Amino acid sequence: MITKKTERVLLLGIDLGTARTAVTSNRQFRGLVHSVVGYPKDIIGVKILNRTQVIGSEAIEKRALLDLYHPLQDGVLKEASDRDLEAARALLKQVVALAEPAPGERVCGIVGVPARAALSNTGQLLGILDGLMDIAMVVSAPFMVAYGQNRLHNAIIIDVGAGTIDLCAMRGTIPGPESQVSVFKGGHYIDGLLESALRDAHAGLHMDRYLAQAIKERHGFVGEADRRVIVPLRIHGKPAEVDVTDSIRITCETIVGDIVESIKRMLLLFDPENQSLALANLVLAGGGSRIRGLGAMIEAQLKDYGQARVSLVDDADFAGAEGALKLATELPPEYWDQIGAVVGG
Ligand SMILES: Nc1ncnc2c1ncn2[C@@H]1O[C@H](COP(=O)(O)OP(=O)(O)OP(=O)(O)O)[C@@H](O)[C@H]1O
Ligand SMILES: [Mg+2]
Repeated sequence: MITKKTERVLLLGIDLGTARTAVTSNRQFRGLVHSVVGYPKDIIGVKILNRTQVIGSEAIEKRALLDLYHPLQDGVLKEASDRDLEAARALLKQVVALAEPAPGERVCGIVGVPARAALSNTGQLLGILDGLMDIAMVVSAPFMVAYGQNRLHNAIIIDVGAGTIDLCAMRGTIPGPESQVSVFKGGHYIDGLLESALRDAHAGLHMDRYLAQAIKERHGFVGEADRRVIVPLRIHGKPAEVDVTDSIRITCETIVGDIVESIKRMLLLFDPENQSLALANLVLAGGGSRIRGLGAMIEAQLKDYGQARVSLVDDADFAGAEGALKLATELPPEYWDQIGAVVGG
């Protein structure tokens, strides 16, 4: 369907992630929601909350009363039960509502999802988006980052997310399955390892995933430590100052080998004369790109291949959503079906 010039259109760029979902609009709205939906465990929860559904950080805060559903896991849409798909729909509905579409306005959105979901869950995702937007397109998140950063040719995007690390080789065309690789070692993987490492190193330490994640987000690094990292924790219930430096370094470094090996394999996709250009055009995105020293360590481990250069996106939270919005703004929705899978129109 051709959009009439007079019709008001709300364009959305959405990055549906395992941990968090970012949304941006052509009216400069930006929102970030934890990708989790909670349903009261029983009637008491319904009574206390006065609702049958809680979305985002509030669901995490009130998790004692709720069964939590995370729509994405290991880079794909979870489909174990109807509730999983219902949760995905509720989350996306909330995200669209946050951007405040005006009554009667046409809502057109591009939704970036982890590369694996873009390749294997497109039908389900479009089914969910149908009815939430007038036109929606699903594309892979690392491609959206590439588009937003204008790295469309001779570049490799490395999106270090919570569920997966997605790599995407940009060779001047829309990347297909052959240009994308997912490694099952995102931030959640590091959190699990860090939790165990800290427990093993300090008998009686009170530790869980959420705490391990918070420590990693505050202090995460790879390579030489420039200072010891000491954090206040509890051992056998008593306050203690705990040196977490080595545990952080060792667990954060577990992702580097896979990233480097994947880059080496991806380089072979480029014509030989372009390989050194791609090597000098590596882009780190996703929340995990904030791990200090990651870019430098990747560069160092690729030195046998030439001069590697890693740059970081400015805004790891919104690089995917901004790229999606940029594409939505530059290409009229009636042409989206030339780029990816579309519903509506
Ligand atoms: N400062 C930081 N240092 C290290 N890791 C961080 C930091 N900030 C966020 N992270 C991690 O980044 C991950 C979230 O990144 P992001 O929002 O890109 O993931 P996502 O898009 O939800 O996941 P995916 O792309 O796998 O679906 C989490 O594991 C989080 O702990
Ligand atoms: Mg992501």
